[in-house]
Amino acid sequence: MSGSHSIGDTATFDRFARFYDWVVPTADEDELRAALEFADRDIERVLDVGGGTGRGAAAFDASERIVVDAAEGMTRQACRKGFEAVRADAASLPFADESVDAVTIVDALHHVGDPEETIAEAARALRPGGVLVIWEIDPTAPVGRLVEAGEHLYGFDSTFFAPEDLGRKVAEAGLDAKFRSRGFEYTVVGRAPGND
Ligand SMILES: C[S@@+](CC[C@H](N)C(=O)[O-])C[C@H]1O[C@@H](n2cnc3c(N)ncnc32)[C@H](O)[C@@H]1O
Repeated sequence: MSGSHSIGDTATFDRFARFYDWVVPTADEDELRAALEFADRDIERVLDVGGGTGRGAAAFDASERIVVDAAEGMTRQACRKGFEAVRADAASLPFADESVDAVTIVDALHHVGDPEETIAEAARALRPGGVLVIWEIDPTAPVGRLVEAGEHLYGFDSTFFAPEDLGRKVAEAGLDAKFRSRGFEYTVVGRAPGND
């Protein structure tokens, strides 16, 4: 990525990276861990895409947790917390095919600019039996509608999907998809086909 190029909503996150953890509550550990258990393999190497300061990565265990984010300020904060962090566009991951056990995208898919290509890239990077875990906000729920309106008012270019629509996109990327809704929040998990 070139130094000055900004994609998705990254310019704002770059500016506010130092303050991000002061205002955003910790990620839902139980939900992320339960979603990762859908994998048909051990979870050792994980990419936390749109991972920001590492808030999502901090909520689960894995021997290698790599934060991938397009905002330099966010990757700097993730590094300060001890995570390996890579500055890259979610729609063009600098990782080989079938090189990771899981990809998490926590509260970030609606910001990335090209969600379909982001999902396709995650699917490409997954090893057989690995999982893509997406935590998102449901724009059809009353609180989700407020979040969507608030983000647009703020100037974010966010695109939110209803759980079944995002589940369909994950399935179209070749993954075995399921979703779980909890009020205005939901998680979609997609598992890559196994070796058999
Ligand atoms: C709301 S933050 C979520 C960060 C983290 N996942 C969390 O749960 O705290 C959204 C993140 O997505 C990143 N982002 C936006 N567009 C991106 C893109 N195209 N590629 C990679 N990261 C992107 C932003 O820089 C920001 O760090």
